[in-house]
Amino acid sequence: MIRMIGKAAFGLAAFALLAAATEADKAQFRRPDTIPFPAESPYDPQIAILGKMLFFDPRLSGAQNMSCATCHNPSFGWETPVARAIGAANEPLGRHAPTAINVAWGGPFFWDGRAATLEAQASGPITADKEMNAPFDQVIARLSQVPEYKSWFDRLFPGEGITEASITRAIATFERTIVSGRAPFDRWLAGDETAISAQAIQGFDLFVGKANCVACHSGWTMTDNGFDDIGLPDDDLGLGAITGAAEDHHKFESPSLRNIALRAPYMHDGSLDDLQAVIDHYNGGGVPRETLSPDIRPLGLSEDEQSALKAFLMTLTEDQSRIGTPQLPTN
Ligand code: HEC
Ligand code: HEC
Repeated sequence: MIRMIGKAAFGLAAFALLAAATEADKAQFRRPDTIPFPAESPYDPQIAILGKMLFFDPRLSGAQNMSCATCHNPSFGWETPVARAIGAANEPLGRHAPTAINVAWGGPFFWDGRAATLEAQASGPITADKEMNAPFDQVIARLSQVPEYKSWFDRLFPGEGITEASITRAIATFERTIVSGRAPFDRWLAGDETAISAQAIQGFDLFVGKANCVACHSGWTMTDNGFDDIGLPDDDLGLGAITGAAEDHHKFESPSLRNIALRAPYMHDGSLDDLQAVIDHYNGGGVPRETLSPDIRPLGLSEDEQSALKAFLMTLTEDQSRIGTPQLPTN
């Protein structure tokens, strides 16, 4: 029972101070063998290839100068290395671009969860004037003039062709295939005791113990996809602006921590520059206010413990990325 640490049982954390992580702690982080696809949008390898081309194609933006990959760049953990990505209007967006990795296990989408599915999410950035600024009829007319796209859509979506629904279905299918690669942490979980350092193992013990990160960063992708206020000092109401409920103020969805070292800066506002700043934030306990999660409180981590936690977070980076950029069809 000592290891029973979670959202409902933070009070027990004190007992875990000296305990090493158990097999049960480890089990939840093991990689699954298959990607879950929704019944209404099953996996189709050809649709995924088409979706990959669309994800990288600037023809989906009004001025043809920006693709999904501009802000969800594979080289930077499928996000952008600036606090707020710059959109089509040449202005920074309201929030930091979240990662597109492991979204097959995610949802609802956006920091405030306002899109239920990836298909619904994908329409947003294409048409938003501050993002890609392309009305769908313009995108459809443009893609229809590319013979290769026309034949791909006619073949894969018979009787439907190029529509908003088929475009977003293809993009979402590709996105579900963006899975973070095997990391040292995975090799350690699989039994290779030398895959991560003793310091990183101490960091894992803290992650599931004293620091209680696991309360929200659970499961193999290391997020419970839940919404919490972690006490960042900005005015964005997050989920609260969607639901209108005061108790939802400042709540944002916990991101996956896979490949986290590649994904600076951090948080919905991109306000934390590096992992040390993240650890400093959690160690300090955040801004005290009514909505602050009961799982966020000063942690009292020593310098050594902070280094260990950081060493553990570094083991979540995949050994190598195998994503190549697609060759786009010509007009
Ligand atoms: C100009 C930068 C920009 C472009 C271009 C862009 N995005 Fe995003 N994306 C963002 C930002 C910023 C957010 C978070 C917005 C929010 O939560 O309010 C986001 C959120 C997302 C999410 C939600 C992730 C999650 O876990 O909640 C997905 C998925 C996504 N974008 C996919 C796409 C796709 C697909 C495209 C192309 C059709 C695209 N994005 C184009 C910046 C961009
Ligand atoms: C109460 C739930 C909760 C706990 C406990 C928690 N987190 Fe988080 N974490 C979140 C939420 C929610 C966000 C996004 C917050 C935001 O942007 O406003 C987040 C964001 C992060 C990010 C940034 C991810 C990104 O994509 O920008 C990192 C890194 C992180 N947490 C690590 C940790 C570590 C390490 C611990 C333990 C010391 C921890 N978290 C404890 C909920 C939690």
